[in-house]
Amino acid sequence: MKKPFIAGNWKMFKTVSEAVSLVQTIKAGVSHKTDCDIVVCPPFTALSAVSKTLEDSSIDLGAQNMHFESEGAFTGEVSPLMLKDVRCRYVVLGHSERRQHFKEDDALINKKVKTAVKYSLVPILCIGETLAERESRQFFEVVKKQFDESLQGLTGEDVSKIVLAYEPVWAIGTGQTATPEQAEQMHSYVRRLLNEKYGNEIASRVPILYGGSVKPDNIGQLMRKPNVDGALVGGASLKAETFTQIIVNAAEACKAEVHS
Ligand code: 13P
Repeated sequence: MKKPFIAGNWKMFKTVSEAVSLVQTIKAGVSHKTDCDIVVCPPFTALSAVSKTLEDSSIDLGAQNMHFESEGAFTGEVSPLMLKDVRCRYVVLGHSERRQHFKEDDALINKKVKTAVKYSLVPILCIGETLAERESRQFFEVVKKQFDESLQGLTGEDVSKIVLAYEPVWAIGTGQTATPEQAEQMHSYVRRLLNEKYGNEIASRVPILYGGSVKPDNIGQLMRKPNVDGALVGGASLKAETFTQIIVNAAEACKAEVHS
């Protein structure tokens, strides 16, 4: 049975006290859930406090970005060692908002992915096309380029430790989700790219998450698709009730799949 992987990307939301309160409620709501991998990615300022709150929990902690050097004169940046220090296990890299607003390109993202793997942080590597790229039917090409360039120089063993997230930019924060068929079409394409480059064993091991307006009422349909292994949730992860419901519905969809 597929074990869903549900990660919440809180983006630039939540003060420390709001973050602790949110994670306490999520923790209480999912305490019995062992059939789902759960990750929360608060902003940097809240990582330490959320980490302490999660000490006796199976929920994992992730950051939303990091620098590719372990330390140095890089004003305003946060290093992989600092993330390890607050017990982050995951780090979101290459998010479209970083690409769009902070001009991150695949070469920079590639350096970050390599560093994350070196320091045993699991990158949640985001790829996905814009609306213009979808409308001009370039989406496979765009995603392939992001895939190839951000993973350049990594070995199969390295790649077996990462998580991929397909996030079509036109579906982020817009309320317009990709249909389960559109998501599956891209996920199976990405699985094929993994297979061609790193072989079947690694391709079947790397979780491919979907991100873009995931809500409690659409997660079930998405999870029923064979190549959708979970979700990277933005807006709906900011409320304990909706995030918990997404987790419950994802796990149920996977169970129903086995029994149907
Ligand atoms: P929304 O769920 O708010 O569309 O955001 C998706 C996202 O960007 C997760 O990283």
